[in-house]
Amino acid sequence: MSKAGSFVLHGAAAYSESKDRLITYESAYVVCEDGIARGVFREIPEKFREFPVTELGEKLILPGMVDLHVHAPQYAFHGTGFDLQLIDWLDRYTYPEEMKYKKKLYAERSYDLFVEDLYCGASTRAVIFATRHVGATVRLMELLDETGLVTYVGKVNMDRNVPEGYCETTEESLLATEKWLARCEAKEFQNTMPILTPRFTPTCTRALMDGLGKLSAEFGIPVQSHLSENLGEIEWVKNLEPDSAYYGETYDRCGLFGTNGKTIMAHCVHSGDEEVRKMKENGVFIAHCPQSNMNLMSGAAPVRRYLDQGMRVGLGSDVAGGAETSMFTAMKDAVHVSKMRFALSHPEDTPLTLSEVFYMATMGGGEFFGRVGSFMDGYEFDAVILDDTNIATLHRMNTEERLERAVYCADDRNIVSKYVRGKKLY
Ligand code: GUN
Ligand code: FE
Repeated sequence: MSKAGSFVLHGAAAYSESKDRLITYESAYVVCEDGIARGVFREIPEKFREFPVTELGEKLILPGMVDLHVHAPQYAFHGTGFDLQLIDWLDRYTYPEEMKYKKKLYAERSYDLFVEDLYCGASTRAVIFATRHVGATVRLMELLDETGLVTYVGKVNMDRNVPEGYCETTEESLLATEKWLARCEAKEFQNTMPILTPRFTPTCTRALMDGLGKLSAEFGIPVQSHLSENLGEIEWVKNLEPDSAYYGETYDRCGLFGTNGKTIMAHCVHSGDEEVRKMKENGVFIAHCPQSNMNLMSGAAPVRRYLDQGMRVGLGSDVAGGAETSMFTAMKDAVHVSKMRFALSHPEDTPLTLSEVFYMATMGGGEFFGRVGSFMDGYEFDAVILDDTNIATLHRMNTEERLERAVYCADDRNIVSKYVRGKKLY
């Protein structure tokens, strides 16, 4: 791994300036100064002429992508178990797998595979659920930290409706979280950070969420959870928490909905008007996980409405609700799901465009990390280099066409180089 530097990459380039502004070049110079992007140019500006130039020929230079929602322990069964909806899926496949991470050796071996997969793909950043176990979660963070990828990782909190042996008491859960935060601090990680992770309201009492809200406020730690994913889940929350006007309020009343720190809510497939209004008001990030929503039969999220209202939306693989970590797949699935929603039930919600899904995979999720996900001046320099020569065609394609084809046809094997915060990882 090299140090963050100042350099220029020359090749074809694509990046977003906004959800509606996709910028493409057939041949351009992408400039990084001390780990920060300085823009994309047809000719190298005078002040950057001294920087070393890496010649990439026709390869495509793209901003690194952001997986805004993924479960590391579920990688162990990725691509299997899609015959059930959310709650039964959790009971039948997910909790039994996650329980195994109590054993350090099992966790080590499984997390090695997950981290290797993430390292090889198009993601330069990710926001990750671990399990309830402090030891295994710290080990995952160590493995991730070594890669140079920038990540948030959460020790999962749960104090009800989880099988014996995996459930914590409220006190255990809060104490373990404090212990975990102290261990994170002592480790002095360079690239990985803790994020508070109440699994979702069905598995978290109000007392637990109040405690986590206090921790979030005290230490300024961000929050991630799940919201309004599945109709059965939403009914269950209504029964468990009759005093809350809507599902999201069960987080909001505890300071876990964007008021104490940045917050990601995964899914939001069935959010009502009040919930959407509150998410918008509080600047909550929505992690749209289209493949998971198909696999677990959850539905088609109203992403068109979220984007049109200027809400913060990124993409998540949600492995193992989603089968794979590829952000190309996530972009493709986001387009497909939006087309099905448009064609089958909501003709007013026009399908997502290439520009919009590319924005969500880069700048949309990147915003959670700060100025991340673009090559505009001032953005942290995360880039992936794509070699698409194996995708055969007789046509001479322009960069936008090649980007669209990458969304539909590329996979991790097309990523030949990766830069994070100006450091070349490979
Ligand atoms: N809701 C609560 N836990 C989970 C999980 O592990 N995956 C998904 N997709 N939804 C959840
Ligand atoms: Fe999830």
